[in-house]
Amino acid sequence: MESQRPTLLDQFGRQVKDLRISVTDRCNYRCFYCKPVESFGHVYRAGLLSYEELVRASRLFVEELGVEKIRLTGGEPLLRREIEKLVEELAKLPGLKDLAMTTNAYLLPAKAQRLRNAGLKRLTISLDSLKPDRFAEITRHDSLDRVMKGIEAAEKAGFGPLKINVVVIKGVNDDEIADFARFSRETGHIVRFIEFMPLDEDRQWDMTRVVSQATIVEKLKEVGPLEEVGRSYSSETANTYRYADGKGEIGIIASVTAAFCGQCSRIRMTADGKIRTCLFSQNEHNLLERMRRGDSDEQLLDYIREVTWRKESGHNINAPDYQYPERSMSLIGG
Ligand code: GTP
Ligand code: 5AD
Ligand code: SF4
Repeated sequence: MESQRPTLLDQFGRQVKDLRISVTDRCNYRCFYCKPVESFGHVYRAGLLSYEELVRASRLFVEELGVEKIRLTGGEPLLRREIEKLVEELAKLPGLKDLAMTTNAYLLPAKAQRLRNAGLKRLTISLDSLKPDRFAEITRHDSLDRVMKGIEAAEKAGFGPLKINVVVIKGVNDDEIADFARFSRETGHIVRFIEFMPLDEDRQWDMTRVVSQATIVEKLKEVGPLEEVGRSYSSETANTYRYADGKGEIGIIASVTAAFCGQCSRIRMTADGKIRTCLFSQNEHNLLERMRRGDSDEQLLDYIREVTWRKESGHNINAPDYQYPERSMSLIGG
């Protein structure tokens, strides 16, 4: 008989099973809806979790607390030196069922095969435009070609089908929804449209710039008859759709117009070792400090259980008194 896995619970009865680790605050892009700070990693330096510390924390989450999935994010995770070494260590954790990464793909031509060999299971790529000029405007980096090469490299290394994340913003790229759907139908990659959330460094977000799930669905229907498939697991961020002819798979991440907090299974760790129990948390919990002052595994586990218990019920993006968290998206990792 399979021995019972431990569980990490919050006060609302949700089980935390997914750990998202931001491995660096640095990014080579400057996407305006996210916009990493200019400091290029100077925020942390000494305060950055070492790989040893990251593996220790991950081991506690996976072996002692029942976490099943780890996703590495950033900033841009491939900028962290020898990230494949971290992947290799995490892939060895018994009980870990899924190990994934969200990247902008710029460094994938050099890294994809190494990541695969190290044991990474899945790759998700952020790509907001298929038009070179617009891509450059959004990211402030003229490199759509390079990202396309990154996608090819990822496929070649055996990561297909990939997930492609598109943050949809009114007046910026909402005219490309049908093009992205065709891209999915032609390549077999899963395209996921994300509603713009108020986590941008510049605080430019407002409701008039959000393209809703309902509008996205309408535009998708221009390409052909569409069927809603729903979620493949209850805490999935994306609601899935398929074209009736079987070609193309589309997800919509409707955090703003159809929040999915009630089923949330996620917890986050920042590159400087703070636990965030919600993407929108106003408070963080300093795990790194506790590790460095010499807390035992048992003490760290108690701390993680206690802060998780108090995980927020959800975000309040739609409330008039919504407050931006202190950290913007590039420091949280999406
Ligand atoms: P899968 O593991 O393939 O299901 O991917 P994922 O959706 O969990 O991870 P990904 O990094 O691709 O997340 C896509 C986007 O969903 C992120 O960039 C965020 O915009 C959004 N997102 C992820 N997690 C959360 C969350 O807990 N809350 C909210 N509101 N949005 C989230
Ligand atoms: N709203 C929604 N998604 C965002 N991302 C970054 N900033 C935002 C935002 N303000 C997404 C990126 C990437 C992931 C890491 O986070 O597109 O896929
Ligand atoms: Fe979970 Fe917070 Fe995201 Fe809601 S906003 S799904 S509670 S992390």
